[in-house]
Amino acid sequence: VTAAASAPGRGGAYHAAVTSANPSRSLLVRAALGEPVERTPVWFMRQAGRSLPEYRRIREGVGMLESCQKPDLVAEITLQPVRRHGVDAAILYSDIVVPLAAVGVDLDIVPGAGPVVAEPIRSRADLGRLPELSPDLVSYVTDAVSLLVAELGETPLVGFAGAPFTLASYLVEGGPSRSHQHTKALMHGDPTTWHQLCARLAQISGEFLRVQVEAGASAVQLFDSWAGALPRSDYQAFVQPHSAAALGAVADAGIPRIHFGVGTGELLAGMGAAGAEVVGVDYRVSLSDAVDRLSGRYAVQGNLDPALLFAPWPVIDKAVRRILAEGASAPGHIFNLGHGVLPDTDPEVLTRVVELVHEVSQR
Ligand code: CP3
Repeated sequence: VTAAASAPGRGGAYHAAVTSANPSRSLLVRAALGEPVERTPVWFMRQAGRSLPEYRRIREGVGMLESCQKPDLVAEITLQPVRRHGVDAAILYSDIVVPLAAVGVDLDIVPGAGPVVAEPIRSRADLGRLPELSPDLVSYVTDAVSLLVAELGETPLVGFAGAPFTLASYLVEGGPSRSHQHTKALMHGDPTTWHQLCARLAQISGEFLRVQVEAGASAVQLFDSWAGALPRSDYQAFVQPHSAAALGAVADAGIPRIHFGVGTGELLAGMGAAGAEVVGVDYRVSLSDAVDRLSGRYAVQGNLDPALLFAPWPVIDKAVRRILAEGASAPGHIFNLGHGVLPDTDPEVLTRVVELVHEVSQR
């Protein structure tokens, strides 16, 4: 039994006395760094959230952005899935647009839709509405991470940020988009403004990651959720250097960096080369193919299709075993979904997946 939630928590004295309570030597960190592990670590993107009744209850009457600014609430919501599922990592409850709101962008997170920006950023003049992020603007994140690290004991906390392209897409489109039409128009029509926008977003993302690492996060994940909308040549010219800058902001911390996107089968090598130790793989590419495309240079994370969690258990059982077998060919494997937990997912199925991963991968 790891963790976290079962430990009395709170306090230096207790944790200092327990020499094994060292999240920087946890299964997740070791797998990410390609070191041997006794079993495959597992956690789920979006493990905190609407799949959990205890989350829906505690969020009643509290807006999404508001909830991210209350350290006690953030800590409680972050811990809920760790307690319930026995996952091998916590992910900070926050959102990729939290640092944008922190620098003053007028935005809201609309339930069922996602982030909506009041005034989209589409020209050089609009860049004036996107100042740099400094740590004092997100002091509630520092406070929440500190609370969590004390509570979590040996369970690592994963910090995260949105990557410049995915953040740019929300800012330029003004909200969620399938086509990314205004974003691509800016990228190709006014490359100078595009690069200035992304350089600023890299500063914001990088600083948001640094704040979390300095407060004690044991790993970070950069979410470039929508990068799969780009051809590889555009990714390399217009996106990768900025993601590299964001990841570079925590390069000296010695903690593993996970780089994830959806539909990024063609971009996997480029995402690794941006400065990650672990490449996240969605469910469209098998882990075996991903390891080939990455030339065995990076650990991998993934890649159970979140929609399969709605299928009968034998289907899930088979998929979990296949993914574990394929992951064994990588330098390191962190079991996860290929994208976030869907809100209607039965949480008991998630707990069962954790148990199965633990059982099958035990060495
Ligand atoms: O458990 C976790 O993964 C930690 C928390 C987390 C949230 N958002 C909380 C959240 C993380 C890591 C994110 C990242 C995020 N946010 C991404 C990248 C991951 C991905 O899914 O690709 C993106 C693209 C966003 C933007 C965003 N925020 C979307 C698309 C949505 C969903 C809108 C909806 O209601 O369906 C959000 C809102 C959001 N972020 C929720 C949560 C728990 C749901 C809001 C609610 O419960 O009211």
